[in-house]
Amino acid sequence: MKIIIVDDYKAMSKKAAIIIANQIILKPNSVLGLATGSTPLGTYNELVELHKEGIIDFSQVTTFNLDEYYDLSPDNTNSYHYYMMNNLFQYINIDLENTNIPNGITEDIDKECESYDQKIIQAGGLDLQLLGIGANGHIGFNEPNIKFESKTHLVGLDEKTINDNSRFFENKELVPKKAITMGIKNIMQARSILLLASGIDKADAIEKTVHGSITPKVPASVLQLHPNATLIIDKLAASKL
Ligand code: GLP
Repeated sequence: MKIIIVDDYKAMSKKAAIIIANQIILKPNSVLGLATGSTPLGTYNELVELHKEGIIDFSQVTTFNLDEYYDLSPDNTNSYHYYMMNNLFQYINIDLENTNIPNGITEDIDKECESYDQKIIQAGGLDLQLLGIGANGHIGFNEPNIKFESKTHLVGLDEKTINDNSRFFENKELVPKKAITMGIKNIMQARSILLLASGIDKADAIEKTVHGSITPKVPASVLQLHPNATLIIDKLAASKL
């Protein structure tokens, strides 16, 4: 695991955007795994700026998002469909046909999950997977005790995750209790992984991810086994290392 410690959120976002931009410049038809949450917002802003400056061209890029809340329609402002459109896709020249996000309102979950896995394979696999991390060590929505061999599947969300994510909703009752997420196997099959973390709330999870035992109790600890995983974390998130 390569660990890059930077001063603050801004520096983390800039560094992450440079690595992603470099990936696209080296391989214009890159397949990117994307994340949501507040952590990658700054990275997406930086990518939009780099695009505006003519430095990166998304026209051949394909994306797969990690997850989507179960039963939220794409036009719900809390859905990850809405998030991606609002924070990245509408500002760049990506072909929306090449963007993929699990369908949270599918009538056939098994089929949706299986076809999501297939689409990733057909696209040639993920070149780079961007990740945030939950305070309980979750990646995507792979909560503690997830099986490391899991592929895309429906999950029940942890009480901790529901509480943490309730800040985006009008009240806690409105936070979905389930989500569709890529599994640990999908994430680990990416050729490179970039995990971002900022702030003191993530310090425990980062310490366990880096120095703890590799255990499904801390899903992100599996990244110790990945040959090309980079953590970009700010000083506060790194404060317990
Ligand atoms: C959600 C997402 C994760 C994200 C996590 C942390 O649960 N499914 O992909 O990493 O939140 O969110 P934040 O970046 O807002 O702290």
